[in-house]
Amino acid sequence: MTHWTDALRQNWGIAADLTRLDGEYDLNFMAEAANGQGYVLKVMRPGCEAGLVDMQIKALEYIAAEAPGLPFPKVYPALDGDALPMITDEDGQPRLVWLLDRLPGRCYAKAAPKSQELILKLGRVLGATGRALEGFRHEGLSREFKWDLTQAGWISDRLDVVTDPVRRGLLEDVAESFAAIRDRLDRLPKQAIHNDANDYNILVEGELSDRRSISGLIDLGDMCAAPRICDLAIAGAYVVLDHPKPEQALAALVRGYHAANRLRAEEVDLIWPLLRMRLAVSVVNSTLMAAENPDDPYITISQAPAWRFLENDTVNGGLMPARLRAACHLPVTDGAERIHTYLNNHRGEFAALFGTDLSDAPMGSLSVENSTWPQDPFHMPLDEAARVGEEFGEGYWLGYYNEPRLIYAEPGFRKGPWKASDRRAVHLAVDVFAPAGSTLYAPLSGRVEAVENRDAHLDYGGVVILHHETPEGDPFYTLYGHLDPECCTRLKPGDPVAQGAAFARLGDATQNGGWAPHVHFQLALTTMGMEADWPGVGDPDEMDLWHAVCPNPAALLNLADDKVFYHPTDKMHVLAGRQAHFGANLSLTYDDPVMLVRGWRHHLFDEWGRPYLDAYNNVPHVGHAHPRIQAVAADQLTRMNSNTRYLHPAQTAFAEKILSKLPDHLQVCFFVNSGTEANELALRLARAHTGARGMVTPDHGYHGNTTGAIDISAYKFNAPGGVGQSDWVELVEVADDYRGTFRRDDPNRAQKFADLVDAAIARLQDKSHGVAGFIAETFPSVGGQIIPPKGYLPAVYEKIRAAGGVCIADEVQTGLGRLGEHYFGFEHQDALPDIVVLGKPIGNGHPLGVLVTTRAIADSFARGPEFFSTFGGSTLSCRIGKEVLDIIDDEGLQDNARLMGTRLIEGLRQIGADFACVGDVRGMGLFVGVELINPDGSEGAEICKYVKNRMRDHRILIGSEGPKDNILKIRPPLTIEAEDVDMILWALRDVLSEVGDYAPAPVCDHEHHHHGCGCC
Ligand SMILES: Cc1ncc(COP(=O)(O)O)c(C=O)c1O
Repeated sequence: MTHWTDALRQNWGIAADLTRLDGEYDLNFMAEAANGQGYVLKVMRPGCEAGLVDMQIKALEYIAAEAPGLPFPKVYPALDGDALPMITDEDGQPRLVWLLDRLPGRCYAKAAPKSQELILKLGRVLGATGRALEGFRHEGLSREFKWDLTQAGWISDRLDVVTDPVRRGLLEDVAESFAAIRDRLDRLPKQAIHNDANDYNILVEGELSDRRSISGLIDLGDMCAAPRICDLAIAGAYVVLDHPKPEQALAALVRGYHAANRLRAEEVDLIWPLLRMRLAVSVVNSTLMAAENPDDPYITISQAPAWRFLENDTVNGGLMPARLRAACHLPVTDGAERIHTYLNNHRGEFAALFGTDLSDAPMGSLSVENSTWPQDPFHMPLDEAARVGEEFGEGYWLGYYNEPRLIYAEPGFRKGPWKASDRRAVHLAVDVFAPAGSTLYAPLSGRVEAVENRDAHLDYGGVVILHHETPEGDPFYTLYGHLDPECCTRLKPGDPVAQGAAFARLGDATQNGGWAPHVHFQLALTTMGMEADWPGVGDPDEMDLWHAVCPNPAALLNLADDKVFYHPTDKMHVLAGRQAHFGANLSLTYDDPVMLVRGWRHHLFDEWGRPYLDAYNNVPHVGHAHPRIQAVAADQLTRMNSNTRYLHPAQTAFAEKILSKLPDHLQVCFFVNSGTEANELALRLARAHTGARGMVTPDHGYHGNTTGAIDISAYKFNAPGGVGQSDWVELVEVADDYRGTFRRDDPNRAQKFADLVDAAIARLQDKSHGVAGFIAETFPSVGGQIIPPKGYLPAVYEKIRAAGGVCIADEVQTGLGRLGEHYFGFEHQDALPDIVVLGKPIGNGHPLGVLVTTRAIADSFARGPEFFSTFGGSTLSCRIGKEVLDIIDDEGLQDNARLMGTRLIEGLRQIGADFACVGDVRGMGLFVGVELINPDGSEGAEICKYVKNRMRDHRILIGSEGPKDNILKIRPPLTIEAEDVDMILWALRDVLSEVGDYAPAPVCDHEHHHHGCGCC
């Protein structure tokens, strides 16, 4: 090593420490100078061809001059000006040596997740590189080279090395597709290309939530002269490998490339066959190498991802040209523009589909936002399907194109194994609802392409596809679904159909897949990759593709495009309205906020019909949109809704139900509108009963948003800009035995935490406030989902009562069965509070708070003025509250919380064992916290933020909490099921694996500024 350290100093004048890097033939060193500047010193193998190194050096210099912003390393010539001096090694062998910049970042192979945004950036870098290299010339570029894709045909002569006949057959197919594009490839101009943008030659910068970027494209050793599209196809071959969404990943890469270096459609069409050919070259090459090196298992292992991809038949290759053209906003087929012109020019002249003018037919929306079909977005029952849209009447009405709908509810529409997996939801056709038996007339002439009876439940029933042509001969297709299958007996492929000819009838629900009678009328510019099996709805995240392949068919119905084109509410518009009309401290969750418009049990849907697993919201305790809550609310609103100044049996029924769940000494209920209001009232009651003013409460607690409630909420009054602590409030350390003063290894920690109350009581007495009471969330939630050690609360209560105070249990988060083992949190503690506060879940979304107390305390309060809350205890509220409590019992939700909570917590503990950043998993039932930590054990707030946002990308809503916001909060509705718990565990494992060995940059200590830290 010292030899090369010396060589670097003598030839470049740079003093640096060297570390050896991996390299098969050459000696590569990482060099770090005293000032932190990094280099890579490349010592080429003896006998290395100087021309090829010269090519790389010249190319790097050329790029630096043409496109200085591109992330390529800089070449440092030696002191004598020679960029590639010959230096003798320790064995006296002459070696070519060159020096490069060390670029920041980690290799793309290890950069997870491989997001579309990152891949798009990679495409841009590659496209810009292609442009920069356009004029570069070097004699090394044209050589015989097995990695030159234009020469890839060599594999056909070596396929015999692949012994598995199925695999060999697959490679033969790939080679055949390659042979089929040879002519087109040969016609493309050649230029210098990088030719090896594999995932070890790409560097990525940016940690966790930082915006990541491509910080390096290295190793130009495989450069050659070839059509630029080969460069893109090669990068694509690595981008798709083991990517969970390979088609979308490839589309993002191509879109990025096109943005930097405009492609022509005929080039884009070659990407897919070239990509597959590159993988074929790769597996054939490594199979040959394996034969030569039978003892090196790595050669075979390294082939696995390529084989996995080549053998993966879920990727639709036929659709790929359309997908990639659409990604570039290029015409989806060569005739696309002519077809659009033709359809536009003849709008109004096509034969009427039902023999009647539809321009005044009303639109009926079945969108996620407007419609509630079906009630359960995961199941469309027969009777609902047959009645879909009945609210729009018996006559003709039209269903929208581009409309996201929840009626496509069955698992077949899902794109993954979970209920919250992405699903196809956006309608790619126009529907015409009309009476069963109505005759369909061909809008224009054509011939039958396909005719079928697809009789599965919720399929098309009878379906006909017609083939048409523009006068220039460009083919396009129309599809008519939900027909009377009698058409199958009359029509056969190839039959001509004249414009205006009656060719089919609308089916009824027994014939058309089970739907209310209508035709699904869809247009397609190509059937490649779809043939007779067109998707009638698309993934909302793939609309670029589907708008291009299956455009709005309005012209063929003689309608304006706008009439039938659906626009979901624009989330950004709502966001702008919020910013304009609301205060800036009304915060929104997620870097990219979600807009939610429908819910069902523990799932939610956004305006595009994307499903989310709600693992965060505790208010919809018995589930979103519960039919019994809907029914009871509608029923009561149909009758009357008034206040507690009048008698109503619902008031006492609700009170009796609550009291049946509570210890006997709690006898009196107060109904208010929120948890805040109940806590505010609790303060008044405590003071009325004791005549004292002072309150003791644990640090980081939260009890509500009003002046009084904030005064007892350290989480708010101590927050930046908070009102600060009132002198009648004394804080005690929260009984957190993971991070607090007394830890789990201390058997007396409960008593020790409780003893901290003594000093607080003494201080209140010193200030002559006296002790009105103690208030605590039974299990501190905003404090970080903390379960105090058993015995803590009774010990505290004893001290408070001895000082004359009352004990208030805020059960807003913990009550009503969430804990599984217990209906209320204080039961876990064997504590008996004097006042219990309930909120959030008790109304399942209806604003409702309840305070329950003893007769004695209620009597003390009753000696004051009248108590009245206009809406608290309204007839409606009482009926809803009672219904929620009944549902918890009837559906066994407390028990479900116990079972699912155990499954979740056990699964989380297993994950915790595998990831160092999981410091603690704690919880009871469906009240769960996962504390994330940095390698030094400190609070992993950055990690937590990242995980929360990434879980949302996986369509799972969870929260973050704790004084340092590093605790994941998982708190779903009590309806959650085992498969949903498993989804959370699967996704969390995936996301945590992306966190890797992240460690936050040390916070700058300004005293050490002169040590040269980067952050000052
Ligand atoms: C423990 C606790 N108490 C009280 C409240 C206040 O309830 P509300 O927002 O219904 O007024 C909350 C709300 O988050 C809470 O978590």
